[in-house]
Amino acid sequence: MADKRRFDLFADLVTRHFPGCKHAFDVAGGQGKLNQALVARGVATRTFDTRWKRADVDYAERRFTLDEPCGCDVLVGMHPDGATRVIVEYAAKHGRPFAIVPCCSDNGLSYKPWMRHLAELGEQLGLVVEETALPMQGRARVLLGRPR
Ligand SMILES: C[S@@+](CC[C@H](N)C(=O)[O-])C[C@H]1O[C@@H](n2cnc3c(N)ncnc32)[C@H](O)[C@@H]1O
Repeated sequence: MADKRRFDLFADLVTRHFPGCKHAFDVAGGQGKLNQALVARGVATRTFDTRWKRADVDYAERRFTLDEPCGCDVLVGMHPDGATRVIVEYAAKHGRPFAIVPCCSDNGLSYKPWMRHLAELGEQLGLVVEETALPMQGRARVLLGRPR
């Protein structure tokens, strides 16, 4: 069971690490709860996902791909499953920072190797990647990427 505090904890972390960022893409944002938490902290946020049951937030009801026009200054993803890799690739393509809380892999890797793989991917694509963690239960490790 995912920690219910995860959206507020993550929104606090994002605003702490990227204080200048005012427009976020929330990729694989599910029902839009991270969106609400970011908006409450002054970050205009668009969520990308395919859920019909969701909060009343700026919501692009589609899968996020590399073809999406860039209208953000930071990308975020809480447990973004199959969208985790595209967040890193998109951030590198557009020279934007990202913050992700990875969960399941898209290639059969278990959690620790998946975390290593994502950090290496970001570095290979020209980002500086660091790791921190949210004070919560479950998948709580966070990768932060910034353009070099
Ligand atoms: C484990 S859920 C997490 C949802 C939410 N972030 C949360 O923490 O409750 C993973 C979500 O990823 C979404 N997803 C997977 N690939 C996606 C993609 N390419 N674009 C947008 N959403 C995607 C799924 O629809 C699902 O809602």
